[in-house]
Amino acid sequence: MEFLTSDPASHAALRDAVSVTVDALVAALGVPGPRSPLSTEALAATAARLDPCPPDGAPLEQVLEDLRDVLDGSLRLGDPRTVAHLHPAPLIASVAGELAVGLTNQSMDAFDASPAATFVEDALVRWLAREHGLGDAGSGVMTMGGTASNLLGLLLARDRAGENVRAHGLPPNDWRIVASEASHDSIRRSAALLGLGTEAVIGVETDATGAMSLDAFDAATAGRHVIAIVGTAGTTDLGAIDPLDALADRAERRGAWFHVDAAVGSGLVLSPRQKPRLKGIERANSVTADLHKLWWQPFSASALLVPDVDVLKAVHHASVYLNRPEDEAEGQLNLVGRSLDTSRRFDALKVLIALRATGRRRLAEMIDEVLTLARYAGEAIAQRPQLQLLTTPSTVMVAFRHAGDDETNIRIHRELFASGRAVIGRTRIKGEVSLKLTLLNPHTTRADIDALLDEIVSAAG
Ligand SMILES: Cc1ncc(COP(=O)(O)O)c(C=O)c1O
Repeated sequence: MEFLTSDPASHAALRDAVSVTVDALVAALGVPGPRSPLSTEALAATAARLDPCPPDGAPLEQVLEDLRDVLDGSLRLGDPRTVAHLHPAPLIASVAGELAVGLTNQSMDAFDASPAATFVEDALVRWLAREHGLGDAGSGVMTMGGTASNLLGLLLARDRAGENVRAHGLPPNDWRIVASEASHDSIRRSAALLGLGTEAVIGVETDATGAMSLDAFDAATAGRHVIAIVGTAGTTDLGAIDPLDALADRAERRGAWFHVDAAVGSGLVLSPRQKPRLKGIERANSVTADLHKLWWQPFSASALLVPDVDVLKAVHHASVYLNRPEDEAEGQLNLVGRSLDTSRRFDALKVLIALRATGRRRLAEMIDEVLTLARYAGEAIAQRPQLQLLTTPSTVMVAFRHAGDDETNIRIHRELFASGRAVIGRTRIKGEVSLKLTLLNPHTTRADIDALLDEIVSAAG
């Protein structure tokens, strides 16, 4: 049975498929260690050996057995030594929700492709907008990720800056987007895609914590035609939160669009202790909120949130087969009118399942726990003479260097990855190679952090 239908044989086939898949995943991922030490060559060879579409099919159990190296070769995100990226172990409830997303396979473009789903996504983004302080009229749209949300936010900013840019294209302009030098590279990529060019982005210097310096902002933007100001709530490398309220003031004074990239920091709204740190986000014209980072959802799950859904009319495109005006008059909603995509996943379903299964209290605790853990990791690094903490952690990233040159730090990172002992982050901060822990796992203990730091020191040789 290939598809789920009303035939009971298809129900049994689905149960079997889920059960053998769960067994294979538990065997590959439910074991200790961040990754198996398969070499890069072995991983490439495994993929090259696989015939993607053999002439005859095979039982799923066999297919999964054939893919054993692929599953074994995956990062194990639940391990406390997997700390490289903003890439969480997903909530089990949300993973179960992924099955529901796949099986329902609603397409979030037209009401007649997603009748119940449309209202669920609409309700979820309206709730998210309220949680981010955007008010009762707040709304938005789900996207593939922070990159897509930032692009959409900046598209709205660009289209507001000129006269009917959408129809006529860009006029000659001197438009500038201002973001910190530590803002995510998707801001520059968006500027390029939007026809403004990467050089339209003014990268403002950051202070020692990694947050945008307001003095530097004022100096860098004097006399410039600023159409958009981007505040980052949780930078990629240092987790720093820009002074959002002060940036909102500057945006207001200049009549510029205020976009907050809270891809990292949006989860802080869940914690009564942390939420005040985002003050100013409620004044944003658009907010990027990634749920596949500090909300522990599997990819993809992001939202672009706005204080008023009408703002998204800037991307509305009338289509003869999807958003027919006569149907909308009947109270139907066609989300294609808010999105840069056409067919789109019902990611809101897994999010809803996971949030309801986990509950607000536990989610708030999880946020508090990972932030406390990051503080502890900072202290533990500061106490080790071989390691140098770059700055006190603001959220969940902890950046540091091993004593010695860039080469030493590169070697530590490579050695830990290749041996499968730890998967830590490596970046460059103010030009220098830096190691980084991104702590997203609330079950990681202080003892785990101490053991990981010992491992890092020993990898230096
Ligand atoms: C601050 C920030 N914004 C945007 C993004 C892009 O998000 P995504 O990878 O979901 O596209 C990232 C990714 O890490 C990020 O750190």
